[in-house]
Amino acid sequence: MDNDYRNRLVNLEKVHCVDGDMFDRLFSVADLSPNMRLLDAGSAYGAVTQAVLQRNPPEGMSFHLLELSETQLSIAREKLAQLLTPEQMVSQTAFYNESILEPSAPSGSYDRIIGKLLWHEIAQSHQAELAGVMHRLLAKEGKLILWQITLEGEVGDFYRAIVREKDRLAGFHTMATHRYFPNESELLDQLKTAGFQAVKRSDSLPYHFDSATRLGTDFKQDEDKLAQWHTFIRKAAQKLSPTGLEEIEYVDATTHLEMHFSWGLYVAQK
Ligand SMILES: C[S@@+](CC[C@H](N)C(=O)[O-])C[C@H]1O[C@@H](n2cnc3c(N)ncnc32)[C@H](O)[C@@H]1O
Repeated sequence: MDNDYRNRLVNLEKVHCVDGDMFDRLFSVADLSPNMRLLDAGSAYGAVTQAVLQRNPPEGMSFHLLELSETQLSIAREKLAQLLTPEQMVSQTAFYNESILEPSAPSGSYDRIIGKLLWHEIAQSHQAELAGVMHRLLAKEGKLILWQITLEGEVGDFYRAIVREKDRLAGFHTMATHRYFPNESELLDQLKTAGFQAVKRSDSLPYHFDSATRLGTDFKQDEDKLAQWHTFIRKAAQKLSPTGLEEIEYVDATTHLEMHFSWGLYVAQK
């Protein structure tokens, strides 16, 4: 399967204005305890696992990372090797360079699966299947934790359109074609249909969207691409109702555009 993340070597915390407090809240929701087996699904360079390790995780945990891009996964391996001893790397970690839709781990392998910014990477036609895979991979009473943007109505359409245009301008053609950001009811229905018992949004994190963060990342310092994206966003914003603009606190600061969305921290129990 083609994957733009071979070339998208960006710091996602910088792109999305993510700070340590947000990771604290993620792990509070994840409710980790000793000897748990954790899967960091769609790990990229392992930001989630790194953040767990930096917070003195419970004793005896093991950390598996699954990622489609070999480039990203090898960066994850290097980063984790800076946080663990060589012995811990062998006994506590595993790295799977494969698609989450075709995992090699057997059913019931994990107590926790964290999917941060993963769901929308999977084509809409495969998201129900993804929910089924997550359910199968979890042990009895295991939990799936998703860090995911879900948006409704005109704001949802606006967000999908501007991200698709960013991906197109940045040359991420697979992402521009395949990505689908579900709304909340689509996501919750997919999880319930897959057999999850308790499915809910447990917390919400602020998502400060600043177009300028894409200049040195996705647009590789190409000012012209950022300007083209701004033109697209401004036109799309003109079509939003006053309520929509107010909801996202849209600000045109000339050199950059700012908006506010929210990430959901979703928990689904097997
Ligand atoms: C937006 S990034 C999020 C990375 C990481 N979870 C984080 O938040 O820092 C999405 C990641 O999912 C990976 N991905 C996309 N499709 C995948 C698939 N079918 N199976 C596994 N990983 C996939 C991409 O390669 C990319 O690294």
